[in-house]
Amino acid sequence: MPDATFKIFRGDRDRGELIEYKVPIAPGMVVLDALHYIQAHQTPDLAVRWNCKAGRCGSCSAEVNGRPRLTCKTRLDALPLNEPITVQPMKAFPVLKDLVTDVSWNYRVNRFFVRIAGLEMHPLDAASRTELLKNDLGIGFCNITKCCTEVCPEDIHITDNAIIPLKERVIDDFYDPVRWFLRKISGRKLT
Ligand code: FES
Repeated sequence: MPDATFKIFRGDRDRGELIEYKVPIAPGMVVLDALHYIQAHQTPDLAVRWNCKAGRCGSCSAEVNGRPRLTCKTRLDALPLNEPITVQPMKAFPVLKDLVTDVSWNYRVNRFFVRIAGLEMHPLDAASRTELLKNDLGIGFCNITKCCTEVCPEDIHITDNAIIPLKERVIDDFYDPVRWFLRKISGRKLT
């Protein structure tokens, strides 16, 4: 059976390096299987977080060849195996050890754009949150690469169904000259 070569980040938030490991390829294998193989046969102290192994919980997230991926859903046969596969911790979060990051921020913000979109589009909710979105919540910093949608374990279309509609509302309220003019002459403030 041919081997795949992995280069895996080993270290912590202060220092680290990519260490090379060889893993025999089995049919249907995913990156998380390879990490478990390495843990079981080569380096039992490799820190890897996972839970459902079914693409639901998101805890196995890592950067595979530089892209955020669920390692339990990333099949080896979808990767170029003629070169080493790099597996690194998610860049968006502080590294704790190896592939495990501190994701406590996730639990604090809990995908807040989706929740705000739910309120903004609720027919009985008359409040406007566009000023909050623009000035405090940083909606302008999202450049709609859809990385969050790609890796969302709950398959929520975060970009299409939350971020883009919210960006449109911010643009309507702050950059549409007709609306701006009407608001100016009516004296209406954003609520
Ligand atoms: S282990 Fe739960 S999404 Fe991969």
